[in-house]
Amino acid sequence: MFNFHQDHKKLVLTSFIVFAGLSTLIAVMPAYHMQETKPLPAMQGLTEQEKNGLHIYVQENCVACHTQQVRNIEMDNTWGERPSMPSDYYFSKKRLDVWRQSPSLLGSERTGPDLTNIAKRQPGKEWHLMHFYNPRIVVEESIMPGYPWLFEEKNEKEVAETDVVVPIPAQLLKDQHNKVVATQNVLDLIAYLQSLKQAPLPGNGAPEFIPSAKKKEITTASTPADVTVTATATGPDGAKIYMNTCAACHQRDGKGLAGAFPSLAGSTIVNDNNHETQIKIILQGYDARAEYGVMTGFADQLNDEEITAVANHERTNWGNKGSVITAEEVKKIRESLKKLSQ
Ligand code: HEC
Ligand code: HEC
Repeated sequence: MFNFHQDHKKLVLTSFIVFAGLSTLIAVMPAYHMQETKPLPAMQGLTEQEKNGLHIYVQENCVACHTQQVRNIEMDNTWGERPSMPSDYYFSKKRLDVWRQSPSLLGSERTGPDLTNIAKRQPGKEWHLMHFYNPRIVVEESIMPGYPWLFEEKNEKEVAETDVVVPIPAQLLKDQHNKVVATQNVLDLIAYLQSLKQAPLPGNGAPEFIPSAKKKEITTASTPADVTVTATATGPDGAKIYMNTCAACHQRDGKGLAGAFPSLAGSTIVNDNNHETQIKIILQGYDARAEYGVMTGFADQLNDEEITAVANHERTNWGNKGSVITAEEVKKIRESLKKLSQ
């Protein structure tokens, strides 16, 4: 009865049933299952600007060097507070348009850092602008390519009031009278990066890193040999905190970058015997002067001991001779700020 060779109808029918069955099992059911993924309650959809930024991200093929997936293993816990899950991709999985599939943003190559939580790690717009123009302006040893075509070089007389001027060191420009202006595309790309942060899970059923969910200290950046390490045997290491959270903007040598990030070396605020302004700046952030960018605060990220350690690191390095701060002072100032905001 199963002699296919003699009955072509049976042959076609059987192979069709096998084909349809396997298709359902391997393609239709998983696709159907995927539709059931819901976004987390705290997640918001992408705005038009962020969506355009996502297109630029795809267009420039940033996925060649950057992942957006925190794997469920301990070495990945530097990139996020928890392992990634399907819901995290809810808003970016949408098709780009009728002709193009959903972009694959997960990536598999980590030549550069994972970007799942980049909005939390690097909130400043100025930093990104300089970094995209030429990464070596802000990260001396970077091997990331520059994207100068996302900027326009204009004569300073042509710069309009609405233009976002990027503080690029003059020696990188073709003409000293030129200014570098950000295009809408690079602003959109940055808006997209600033939307990349892990949403908290509702309740406490968080999946854990294997083998343990204990948060390890970030140890990627190394401390240059010429700085004093101010930490005591028990306290946090101010030099390490500086390298991981402050050096991206203020630079390893504490000298900052003209037009964007002020120098901490020789800063009157850092050398002042009244510690209040410096501690307040680290807690709350700072945007006092037009010639510099914006610094966002670290009150949520660093505890009193860590702020004390990093503040003292600034006070005792690069020729600075400020008096040393205690954790009690930081605690007091933090509490007074809390009272003010109530
Ligand atoms: C050839 C590989 C490569 C490509 C392509 C690349 N990057 Fe990078 N990226 C790196 C490396 C390496 C670093 C780390 C050094 C640095 O900060 O410049 C980095 C750093 C970054 C950072 C800072 C990350 C952090 O944790 O501070 C961001 C943001 C970033 N890249 C975004 C992008 C975007 C967006 C694109 C596409 C327009 C892109 N990169 C293309 C290699 C690359
Ligand atoms: C995203 C970039 C960025 C990061 C990261 C950053 N800062 Fe700043 N910081 C700035 C900018 C910009 C200013 C100046 C703001 C202004 O004056 O408008 C500033 C100002 C300061 C000042 C005042 C210095 C002076 O003389 O004006 C101190 C002190 C300071 N930052 C400490 C820190 C410490 C400590 C960290 C790390 C915990 C840190 N900053 C991380 C951008 C940054």
